[in-house]
Amino acid sequence: MELKLDRLTKQFGAAIAVDRVSAAFSPGVYGLLGANGAGKTTLMRMICDVLKPTSGSVIWNGGPIERLGADYRALLGYLPQDFGYYPDFTALDFMLYLSSLKGIDGRMAKRRSMDLLDMVGLADVCKRKIRTYSGGMKQRLGIAQAVINDPKVLVLDEPTAGLDPKERVRFRNIISSFAQDKIVILSTHIVSDVEYIADEILMMRAGSIVMTGTVAQIVADIRGTVWECGVTPQEASAMAASMNVGNLHYDRGGMAVVRLVSDTRPHPRARLVEPTLEDVYLHLFSEQSGDASGERGAYHG
Ligand SMILES: Nc1ncnc2c1ncn2[C@@H]1O[C@H](COP(=O)(O)OP(=O)(O)OP(=O)(O)O)[C@@H](O)[C@H]1O
Ligand SMILES: [Mg+2]
Repeated sequence: MELKLDRLTKQFGAAIAVDRVSAAFSPGVYGLLGANGAGKTTLMRMICDVLKPTSGSVIWNGGPIERLGADYRALLGYLPQDFGYYPDFTALDFMLYLSSLKGIDGRMAKRRSMDLLDMVGLADVCKRKIRTYSGGMKQRLGIAQAVINDPKVLVLDEPTAGLDPKERVRFRNIISSFAQDKIVILSTHIVSDVEYIADEILMMRAGSIVMTGTVAQIVADIRGTVWECGVTPQEASAMAASMNVGNLHYDRGGMAVVRLVSDTRPHPRARLVEPTLEDVYLHLFSEQSGDASGERGAYHG
């Protein structure tokens, strides 16, 4: 079971949204991380065959998907970023409706719909109209509908948008339990959503995958360059202006604690700390990193 992207490219007019992305996915959870506009949605839409690439191809088990057509779409589950709901449907009716579209028969459809609604914690409100749901409830319904056909490839575009911290944890656990023998690709700009559950991270910037690897590999790449130090507010401002400062907070005494990525010791009192995925993300997407730099971006392929 393998999904491959071969120099997949999408151009909108003169703008390149996705630029020659190549990647290979085998069963596991993949976290696609990138800032707004990086090209995540465009890439996912091409993977799900709802957007035609300008060039390049998506290959499922050796065959280009344009040749597989409906057979390929039948094994996909997709949660679009702008998922359209049917506000006057109840969640259960909505699930049954989708089941019939996917060719799942009556009794089976009812059982599967109820199981999935239960899995996402909506069983006791499944007869309420979707218009009465909170954002988080709609998002959980979106996750349930994406897996109705027990897909082999599950693509979730910002599935945790609008979920509160407890729901996020619940979501992560659902994905982990669901992911066995499946390819799960999820996009987010929230590092903690993928830090624990993704077997592999793909960092996307300006249409390209600039870094891939396990969290441990990616983090190891900047070990020895992440510093923390306590400084005066004036020093903190000066550092923020000239260096790659990530997190900054002020303690009660008015001192600033800065966390930053730097190849050299940024301040006499700075001490090296263990890097996190968030440090990598902030470094990769900071202004100073600019477009030319993937310079620390070793490619773990
Ligand atoms: N239909 C379209 N027509 C023209 N430009 C588009 C279209 N869809 C996307 N783009 C452009 O392509 C680029 C990538 O957009 P995309 O939605 O894929 O990014 P994203 O990583 O999903 O961002 P976000 O995190 O905000 O969802 C952006 O510059 C966007 O303006
Ligand atoms: Mg998007």
